[in-house]
Amino acid sequence: MEEKIEKLKAQAAEAIKNAAGNLSELDDIRVRFLGKKGEFTTILRGMGAIAKEDRPKVGKIVNEAKAEIANLIHQKNEELKAREMQNRLASEKIDVTLPGRQQPLGHLHPLTLTLERIKDIFFRMGFSVEEGPEIEKDYYNFEALNLPKDHPARDMQDSFYITEDILMRSQTSPVQARTMQKNEPNAPIRMIAPGRVYRRDEYDATHSPMFTQVEGLVIDEGITFADLKGTLELFLRQIFSEDVKVRLRPSFFPFTEPSTEVDISCVMCHGKGCKVCKGTGWLEILGAGMVHPHVLEMSGYDPKKASGFAFGMGVERIAMLSYGVDDLRLFYDNDMRFLRQF
Ligand code: PHE
Repeated sequence: MEEKIEKLKAQAAEAIKNAAGNLSELDDIRVRFLGKKGEFTTILRGMGAIAKEDRPKVGKIVNEAKAEIANLIHQKNEELKAREMQNRLASEKIDVTLPGRQQPLGHLHPLTLTLERIKDIFFRMGFSVEEGPEIEKDYYNFEALNLPKDHPARDMQDSFYITEDILMRSQTSPVQARTMQKNEPNAPIRMIAPGRVYRRDEYDATHSPMFTQVEGLVIDEGITFADLKGTLELFLRQIFSEDVKVRLRPSFFPFTEPSTEVDISCVMCHGKGCKVCKGTGWLEILGAGMVHPHVLEMSGYDPKKASGFAFGMGVERIAMLSYGVDDLRLFYDNDMRFLRQF
C-alpha cells in the first residue's frame, strides 16, 4: 500500500514538473490526483479493505502525500503565473527611447511685429488705441471727412461696396470721425487706430487690394503744425533710425488743411539714390495734415476752441523698409520659408 502511494506521489510530482504549458494543464493534474474522483480519493475509499489497525497509518500517509502534491501544484502555479506575467511585460514593452513628437512653436507675423513696434512708440508718447469697423458707412469713410458724394478725390479710393451706403473702408481715417463723435465736444484726443483697409487695386510687388494702416489723431487746445512735425519726426527716428532725415512736401487731402506728404531719407542708400528710392534719395512714408475745420465741426468740435493734426501710414510699407522685403505679397502668402525668418 505504502509503495503504491509513493508511486502515485512520484507520478504526480513528475506530471507537475512537466506541466510546462499553461495553468489549465496544471488544473487537470490537480483533478486527476486530488479531485473527488481522483487517485487518492479512490485509495481512501478503499480503506475498508485494509486492516483496521493499519488504517490510521495509511490515512496519514495519504493525507501527507496529498498535502505535498497540493504544495507542488501551488508552487508550479506561482511559477507559471510569474512566467505569464514576464511574457506579457516583454510583449507589451514600450520603447521609451523613441524621440517624442514635437509641437512646432509659432511666433508673431512680421506685420504684427511691425504694428507692435509702431504701437509701442506711440504708447510712450501717451497715445491710446481706437478701433473702427472694416465694413464702414459711406458717411464715416467719406462724408464726415469732407468727401461729399460727388467729390473727385473719391476716385482714388474706389472700394468694394456692399450697398450704396456701406463699403469696405478704404482708409482708417473714418476712426477720426468716430472718435470725435464718441467724445464730449472739444475733449482732447491723442489716439492711433490700426486696422485693415480695402481699395480696388492691383496685386503686385507694391500693391494689394487689402493692406494695413495706422491712423493718428491729436486734438487739443492750441495744437499746431509744429506738433505734427515734432511728433512724426520723433516717431520716424525711433521706428527707422536716429539719423533718418525727414522732409515735408505740400500735398492734398480733403480732411486736412494744410496737408503734407512726409518723406524720409532712403533707409537703403542713406540718401545717395538707389533702386528702392528710384534714385531720389527719399522715400514717401505717410500722409498727414492739420484737421480741416469743417471736419472738426461735422463731428461736434469747435475749430475756435480746438485744433489738431492727423496722419496715416501703411504698415506693410514700414515692414518692407525695416526688414528689407522687396515684395509685399510675401506678407500674405503664408510661406513658412519666408515667415520663419522673423
Ligand atoms: N487716409 C489717408 C490715405 O489713406 C492718409 C491720411 C490720414 C492723410 C490722415 C492725412 C491724414 O491716403
